Amino acid sequence: MIENVSEDNPRGLLVKKVAKIFPTYLIGYDNPNYVEQNKHIIEVLEKEAFTPGPQQPWQTLDNHLENRAEFKEFFDWVRTCLEDYRRTFSYHCDEFKIVISWANKADQNGAHRMHVHPNSFLSGVYYVSENPTPTIFEDPRYQTRSGFTVASHSKMEDSVFYGPAEQGTLVLFPSWLPHFTEAMPFEGTRYTISLNVVPGGATNKGSLTEFNY
Ligand SMILES: [Fe+2]
Repeated sequence: MIENVSEDNPRGLLVKKVAKIFPTYLIGYDNPNYVEQNKHIIEVLEKEAFTPGPQQPWQTLDNHLENRAEFKEFFDWVRTCLEDYRRTFSYHCDEFKIVISWANKADQNGAHRMHVHPNSFLSGVYYVSENPTPTIFEDPRYQTRSGFTVASHSKMEDSVFYGPAEQGTLVLFPSWLPHFTEAMPFEGTRYTISLNVVPGGATNKGSLTEFNY
């Protein structure tokens, strides 16, 4: 869609039409019950076994939190978000299902090197604790790294994007999108929950890319 957009370029001279092609979507959902659910999640995670380190983030040894009775209410809400995502973008599959989910724990020294989530279509990160250290997403267009570079005060030349990371927010992103976290000063412990999602049921039905899982 080509839009008449002037706010993207407030310093421009002329009104113009802008096509934002090949968009990469981060979709955020605010958990309406995050206060009580996050409190409960933290209580469970404080007793949970995590990887010993020394690398951060420490991650739960249980990587199927989506099947745990203690987290049922939370994952019921996540599944509602996934169904909304499926419908929003009219995906041709019966459902989006969570295949793996784990929690991440870090202190202010915690940094997570840049990575993607293999064997997954869609991934999510949910911000549990009060320390909203953001997930930072990296521009996946590696073609932009060669050729001329011209500094710009617009978003045109940004190579990273700081995702929304408020407590109680779930951010869904394409699993191929590189992302990382940085060490930042804060008190206490940062908890997040990560999840990977694949299409379920009849996918791409009636086409040569059809599959069923
Ligand atoms: Fe990740």
